[in-house]
Amino acid sequence: MTSSEILKKAQKEKYAVGQFNISTDEQLKAIIQAADELKSPVIIGTSEGERGFIGTEQAAVLTKIWQQKTKLPIILNADHCKTIESAKEAIDAGYTAIHFDGSTLPIEENIKKTKEIIRYAKSQNPNILIEGELGYLRGSSEIHKEKTEIKKEDFTTPEEAEEFIQKTKADSLAIVIGNIHGIDLKNPNPSLDIKRIKQIKKAIKDTFLVLHGGSGVSKKDIKEAIKQGIVKININTELRIAYSQKLRESMTSRPDQVKPYKILTPAVEAVKEVVKEKIRLFGSENKA
Ligand code: 13P
Repeated sequence: MTSSEILKKAQKEKYAVGQFNISTDEQLKAIIQAADELKSPVIIGTSEGERGFIGTEQAAVLTKIWQQKTKLPIILNADHCKTIESAKEAIDAGYTAIHFDGSTLPIEENIKKTKEIIRYAKSQNPNILIEGELGYLRGSSEIHKEKTEIKKEDFTTPEEAEEFIQKTKADSLAIVIGNIHGIDLKNPNPSLDIKRIKQIKKAIKDTFLVLHGGSGVSKKDIKEAIKQGIVKININTELRIAYSQKLRESMTSRPDQVKPYKILTPAVEAVKEVVKEKIRLFGSENKA
């Protein structure tokens, strides 16, 4: 299945496909194994920092091997590419989806750069999926001790979404509707503006709507967001927390253990559990 076919099926059957971010090979293994056990399509994401660690080509090759082995519908997405060069690097390495994040640029420049990436990407691989972004998404994928402000003026508007999609012809759009990256200890479950999702969906009905900052969002809001048209949900912080907590525990409970595959196994299991919980919540179980 192509990346677009994977999300079209989700759109038609009203569920969302999870994007789970990785920077190491064992995180990839945990996510794919969870998806395989639940027979779910899955999206692997790497930010520029994460891909700097695992390697862009390495992430592409490893994901391809898992896809061949499991036969699951798997998308590999270059999350938050900030420059054309960064997007090109992922396209050339064989990523099957690119997220260009020009949301901090003036909209005309965002449109111009997104179009340029689409032109190059589709000339290399007509089936590649391109996600644009509009609105100001605050935070980063970690635990925030200080309150992250959520401002209505940062939200994506239906008018801008319509203009952006008309001009760029991007396949997907990441929208800002009360979501933030990371988990805010002072506001751990930010609420989403469901009405705004509905308005955006109405303005760009065929575009795949993407929710970033899925960590911490309540189950109720996730379900409602999917009902209103969100088909891709990005999760990173909850995976990072599960991984690092278990790794810390594993290191302290057996200080004499030196075998990496034994030290890492509890962390892999913890990541798997979070991924399974999200797959069930997103409704993508048995949709592979
Ligand atoms: P969280 O870290 O809040 O889950 O967000 C992940 C994300 O949106 C990656 O693009």
